[in-house]
Amino acid sequence: MDGHSSCGKSTMAKTLAKKIGYTYIDTGAMYRAVTLYAMRRGFIGKDGIDEESLRKELPQIKISFGHENGMQYTMLNGENVEREIRGMEVSGNVSPISAIGFVREAMVALQREMGKQGAVIMDGRDIGTTVFPNAELKIFVTASDEIRARRRFDELSMKGENPVYEEVLKNVRERDYIDSHRAVSPLRKADDAIVLDNSNLTFQEQDEWLMEHYLKAARE
Ligand code: DC
Repeated sequence: MDGHSSCGKSTMAKTLAKKIGYTYIDTGAMYRAVTLYAMRRGFIGKDGIDEESLRKELPQIKISFGHENGMQYTMLNGENVEREIRGMEVSGNVSPISAIGFVREAMVALQREMGKQGAVIMDGRDIGTTVFPNAELKIFVTASDEIRARRRFDELSMKGENPVYEEVLKNVRERDYIDSHRAVSPLRKADDAIVLDNSNLTFQEQDEWLMEHYLKAARE
């Protein structure tokens, strides 16, 4: 499943994975974890990213997922960083980090390894185009900028952050732009992906839509 940021892909993907007993893999969390690492090490400054230092330390960055009470969390070198990687600071830095070629190469290799055994729902930006071009089912999810910003705003508010709607909207638009215009694996719908615009759908409607497509693909 690929698509724009904050369009609810991960909620849909997680729900379907639970219903059909597949493993859900959130590839955005992996880029977020690398971003957090780079921030903590001081590799992201006002003048840009210290790519050389990041390249040197990349082999030391270990990303994995843990599970507790049916919830998945992201681990960075053994530490649960789930909360931190969802904050505004990481969100503001993740697009340039995920545009770096050697970062993408390492993440794509790890994602292919994680999906090797099959029965996986992976969500991201380049899953259908680059990571698994032969996936049995490809979905491209989108929704209007304003609706996506509102969803992200609500999510941040619920987590106790104090977001400003205009800033969240700006961040959504900036990430769309960088994600779609980067040189390596830009966000793009795979030719054989099915598009879902969920701007005006309820959770139930989108889950039913996805289940229908899953069942059809499984039959085929
Ligand atoms: O899905 P998300 O918002 O958590 O993703 C965070 C960022 O990571 C997003 O700005 C784009 C990038 N990303 C990517 O380039 N490729 C992926 N497969 C997943 C995410």
